[in-house]
Amino acid sequence: MAEIADRAAKSRAPTPGGPALLFENVKNYPGSSVLMNQFGSERRMKLALGLDPDRGSLDEISARLRALLEVKSPEGFLDKLKMLPMLADLGKLFPKTIAAKDAPCKQVIRREGFSVLDFPVLQTWPLDAGRFITLPCVITRDPRTGRRNMGMYRMQVYDGQTTGMHWQRQKNAAEHLREALRAAAGPASARVQAMAETAGGIANLAVTNLDPANNRLEVAVAIGTDPATTFSAIVPAPPEVEEFLIAGFLRQQPVELVRCETVDLEVPAHAEIILEGYVRLDELRPEGPFGDHTGFYTLQEDYPVFYITCITHRRDPIWSATIVGKPPMEDAWMGKAVERIFLPLFRLTLPEIVDINLPIEAVFHNLMVVSIRKSYAGHARKVMNGIWAMGQAMFTKCIIVVDEDCDVQDLRDVTLRVANNIDPERDIQFTLGPVDSLDHAARLPNYGSKMGIDATRKWAAEGFSRPWPQLIEMDAATKARVDAIWKKLGIEG
Ligand SMILES: Cc1cc2nc3c(=O)[nH]c(=O)nc-3n(C[C@H](O)[C@H](O)[C@H](O)COP(=O)(O)O)c2cc1C
Repeated sequence: MAEIADRAAKSRAPTPGGPALLFENVKNYPGSSVLMNQFGSERRMKLALGLDPDRGSLDEISARLRALLEVKSPEGFLDKLKMLPMLADLGKLFPKTIAAKDAPCKQVIRREGFSVLDFPVLQTWPLDAGRFITLPCVITRDPRTGRRNMGMYRMQVYDGQTTGMHWQRQKNAAEHLREALRAAAGPASARVQAMAETAGGIANLAVTNLDPANNRLEVAVAIGTDPATTFSAIVPAPPEVEEFLIAGFLRQQPVELVRCETVDLEVPAHAEIILEGYVRLDELRPEGPFGDHTGFYTLQEDYPVFYITCITHRRDPIWSATIVGKPPMEDAWMGKAVERIFLPLFRLTLPEIVDINLPIEAVFHNLMVVSIRKSYAGHARKVMNGIWAMGQAMFTKCIIVVDEDCDVQDLRDVTLRVANNIDPERDIQFTLGPVDSLDHAARLPNYGSKMGIDATRKWAAEGFSRPWPQLIEMDAATKARVDAIWKKLGIEG
């Protein structure tokens, strides 16, 4: 199944991406179904986000988001009146909690004798440590603020009732775990010391003898949610914004939630399968290796352990899975959608940004190409530092900044600018900071260097006193004359 899904994801005929795949009656799992490559084409990505798959564009969502962000304070009564429909529309996007009897994910409730291995969980690559849940929407609550988070973090199945929980230390759910630890660990000085002693600060093994009642962070996992909800779990949203609201905004319809059976959390009511349980605050276990979206296996590392307390599901649930590996894979489409939708948010902080491109082959966090409207000396470096300071963009290993007349989606043009416009010693900047947990080349896990390349035209104000040459371009009149006779010349058949 993994090999078929890999080939489908990489297929380029008739259009890039290949079909969605529904495997039925998986061996040893009579009556089962597994859905793969559901997001794996431009068309399906648009469908997932409620856009017209033929004529729609992801820019429609960016435009909707921009309209929301550009709202100015109403000045008079008329202005206020004009805003009412928009506010009413927004009000409709908040999640709604429905009764358990109306929730499809509660058609079967298993409080005892359950096993996650009753579902066809895949081992994807030969050297994976075992079977992994690859498209889980993991829901936690910030113990301090009560705000919910939904993130996609893979889960290695250890046995029918326990799995790994691969939330990387800079992600929101890891912060929820740390908040729970801070609350359990007592006075601040002991806390600071204990946090510093642990590997990466993801959990705190120095905190022992916790009161069993406090020794847990409740977690619920939804598998097989509607596509906009699944997508919102990967969106690098700030912790203040609940992903359920993002899903409502994308779908233009509220997400319906239902209360869990054994934990104090709500989950998408229309999900295929829900795993309820908790992560202990004082336990880590080796997780991985796992064939990852970098194209390499991530090495084994310690992560928290998820204990399942209850499984609920639809009567004939469809198991959702994805395969990650050497790009392009299904997640490339999801990542590109994030790039397009988030551009307006980026511009809120850095309005000089014209466009960005996260090339698929650089697996998103390894390379960002940014074009800017350059206005002052050192502007490219200001933008680099701004990007490294913004949410998950902090992971960006290399940033290339070009002038606004370079199309960042055209990597040939970008290469030409970088190769021609830089004096390497002068225009390359290194800095240190947090790096993605999957970065196997960094000097230390989760900590390493980043590189910024200023490929903009250099100004006298930046100490460049030589003349800067013009880019070569034919004049418009000559181009028009050749356009008129081009077909007749027969050069392109
Ligand atoms: C298929 C897929 C698998 C992912 N697996 C992980 C993972 O195992 N651990 C992780 O920290 N992030 C993983 N991510 C990225 C996160 O989902 C993403 O960073 C998200 O914004 C995290 O949510 P948060 O911002 O609420 O923490 C994965 C993304 C995709 C598309």
